[in-house]
Formats: sequence, structure tokens, C-alpha cells
Amino acid sequence: MSDEHEPQAAREAAGASSIGHGIEHITTEVAVSGATRQFSAPQVKRVRDLLARLYALRRTIRFYPADHPATSQAIDELLPVIAQYHSEGVDVPLTFFEDELLLGEQLLAEDSVLFDQLIRDMTAIGVGTLRFKRGLERRELERFAVILGSDPEGMEKRGGIAALMQSAGLAHIEVSTVTVLREVGSGDDARKAAKVSYTDAIDLLRELDQLVRGNESLNVPRVKASVRSLVDNVLANRYAMLELSGLKNYDEYTFFHSVNVAILSLALGSMLTKEYRFLSTLGVGALLHDIGKMTVASAVLNKPGPLTSDEWATVRQHPVLGAEHAALTPGLDKAALLVIFEHHMRLDLAGYPQQMPPRQQHLASRIVAVADAYDAMTSKRAYSSARLQSEAVEVLVSNAGTALDPVLVRLFVSLMGAYPPRSIVRLSSGETAIVVSPSPRDPIRPVIRVIADASGGMIDPVDIDLSDPEASLGREVRACLDPSGTNVDVADFL
Ligand SMILES: [Fe+2]
Repeated sequence: MSDEHEPQAAREAAGASSIGHGIEHITTEVAVSGATRQFSAPQVKRVRDLLARLYALRRTIRFYPADHPATSQAIDELLPVIAQYHSEGVDVPLTFFEDELLLGEQLLAEDSVLFDQLIRDMTAIGVGTLRFKRGLERRELERFAVILGSDPEGMEKRGGIAALMQSAGLAHIEVSTVTVLREVGSGDDARKAAKVSYTDAIDLLRELDQLVRGNESLNVPRVKASVRSLVDNVLANRYAMLELSGLKNYDEYTFFHSVNVAILSLALGSMLTKEYRFLSTLGVGALLHDIGKMTVASAVLNKPGPLTSDEWATVRQHPVLGAEHAALTPGLDKAALLVIFEHHMRLDLAGYPQQMPPRQQHLASRIVAVADAYDAMTSKRAYSSARLQSEAVEVLVSNAGTALDPVLVRLFVSLMGAYPPRSIVRLSSGETAIVVSPSPRDPIRPVIRVIADASGGMIDPVDIDLSDPEASLGREVRACLDPSGTNVDVADFL
């Protein structure tokens, strides 16, 4: 998959795009339940000072006893900043969630980056929301400081933050966890939820395309909301999402490719860890991995013939261009930026861009590289036809250890099965079927939808789980069929 030696394969992995035009302004919106009060610009600005003092108090109380002068001074410094809000007639409601910080409903994009450690510390001890209410007294803050200084293990031993807050009797400080409503459906409900999430992500890519072309900042809350939905759906129903990840659209290649890569990356990443923060970063990086292409001329990206060396140089710029654009966007996780920058670097670092000194790709970049190669190979492009899904898996395996991380390739094969979703297959019975989803039980026996009988006559589709002996009645997959050699449009049956 080296660009220089196999330009066609490299172009597939590099992908290409066909993009719309125009500029559209997107309003920033984040939906959080609870407080509805809008804070004035000075109040929002001042919260950075408050957060810095809150962080200083937590650090101080971790090192010094509650009655130490250093602790007392840290409290003295925090109190007047809170008091100023109170004197203006407002409480101070803060939310710490995943990697975001909010004042009331307002997302604090820059502060979310600056106070990354504070967010981690607060969520680790169970503080999702923290409200300093009017009427707050110094002695309440003193008692709260002790709770704030607890380590997560110690706090759990003492009954958790809710119990500690209750026994401290703090009338003007409220703490609660953030409850996220994750709708975990099944069957048709899960499919519907998966589709809503997929469509929303495609819409997001269309919006981002306009922003990037207009050289405007990315809408980070919007990106994160979309990714949250993708993560939730992949965790709740991996197979409904994998089924959708095979959707292609020739005219909007980059948008569909980006969403597919995000789903495939999340499905693969969730086999390694269910840690939400990592998956969220991975999803953002995967969804944005090719944003640098949005400024490359589509005549170059979609050129049917070989590229000139100048055109190649332009295409190879897209990770750098994308990372530059993302770097100017406050609130984007650094690891997501790395994914954009590193996704063509290859495991053996023979790809691009070249780095001096060479540095291994981030795990998220290695995951996205596998998903990117698979989706690119199974897509029809101006310069190549789509490979069969099973062939694409074979190419991944042949690149394991050179371009791609061998452990991740192995995991990907077990995730997708030998016959990935949307493959058209001939069964041992002579029937024709479409693979709906891999079977969690057996990689060579997926769930299929039989669409034609042994004589080739179309039938009412029937779903069969080939890993279930009673349902399969001995049927096995014999071969993958090339869709161009059949008159089957997979989309009609899924
Ligand atoms: Fe790319």
C-alpha cells in the first residue's frame, strides 16, 4: 500500500471526494438539561478565573491539611470570585462531562481544553455538576474543600460523593452526577436509532464541508454531539451500525466515507476498551480524518487517470491541511488532531507526512488507518471499481505488520467476519443471499438474508443466522459474488 509503488491502492486508501459549494453559518448549540439562564459575556469570561482557583484549591487540599494556612488562602482566593456572581444575582452552575466544561448551558470550548485535568479530577470523584448557590458561607466551602481533596478510591470507601455531601450538610453547594440518557433499543428500534445517528453524521459532514471551504472554525459541540450518538449506538448495537457502515454514495463519497470510517473505527476501538473518553476522541478523529481533502480540488481527487507528481503532492498535503484547520479550532482533543495528521503515516512510518524524528502512530490513528483502508477499498471510485468485501479483508491481512497494525487487523477480521456485511454470497444450497451482519458466535457463519432460490428466482427475503444449526439447516457460504456480475442492488434489500 505504498503510494510510490502502488499508486492505485494508495489512492484508494487516500480516498477522494466530490463536494458541494457555498457557505452557511452554523449556530453553536449544546443541549444540556437543567439551568436555562444565559450568562453575560463578562460572567462567562470570569469563569476561567473561578476554575483556576477551584483547581488550585483541589491541589492545595491534596497536599495540605484543611487547617493549614495554604488551604485557608486557597479558599480565600476562590470565595470572592464566587461571591461576585452571587452579587450579580446568579448561582454558579458548572458541568463537568466527558471532556467538556459548561457554565449553565454554555459550553466553554477553550476552558474545556485548559482545564482538562480539572474535568478528569472532578468526574473521577463523581462530580458531574457543581452548583455554588447564593447564600454560600465560608465554612461550607471549607467543608466542601475536604471532600474535593478526596481521591476516588477513598471516596468510594466512604460511601461516595453523595453520602459525603449529605453528611457535610452543605445547603449552598450542590453536586450531582451527569445522567446521560442512552437509549438502548433492540431489533427495529435499534435499527431506527442507528439510522438516525448515521443520517445526522452525514448532515454534519455536509455542514463541516461548508465551514472548511469558507475557512471558518469547526463547530465542536455539534461534532461532539454527533460522535456521542455514534458511540452510543455502536456500544448499544454494534451490528445495526456495522450494517449501515457499508452505505456508499458516489457523489458524496467523502461524507459517507468519513461516517463509515467513524463507525468502523468505533466498532474496532470498542473491542479494545469501552472507555467513553477514548471512544469519543477516536470518533471525532475518525469523522474528521479527511477534512483536509475538503480544500483539495475535486478534479484532482476524482481524476480517473494517474495523477501527475504535482497532483500527488497536493493530495498528500491533506493530513497537514486538515490538522492545521483542526488545530485552530478550540475544544478539539489533541488525540483527534493526531488522527487527522497521522492516518496515512503507516505503521512502518513509510507513509506521509514524514516526521523528524519518526514517532509511532497514536493508537487511535492506527485504528482509523485500518477502517479507512477497508472502506476505501470497498468503495467505487473514479479511478477504481469497488473490491469485494472479502478481498478487502485479504488486502488488510496482507498489509498487517507493514502499513497496518497486525493486532488491530486481526481484531478487525474477527469483528467483520470472513464475509462482511453487504457481501453478496452464494450458499451451499445454491441460494443467493446478502450478508446482514457478522455473527458474534462464528466468523464464517454470518447472519444472511436469502433473496434468490437455487434456480436464481427472486423470493421474499428470509433472514437466517447461519451460526444457528437449527435455522441454517446445514447451509454454508460457498463464495462471495461480484455485485457487478449480478443484477442485485444490495441497498434494495437492507
Ligand atoms: Fe486521508
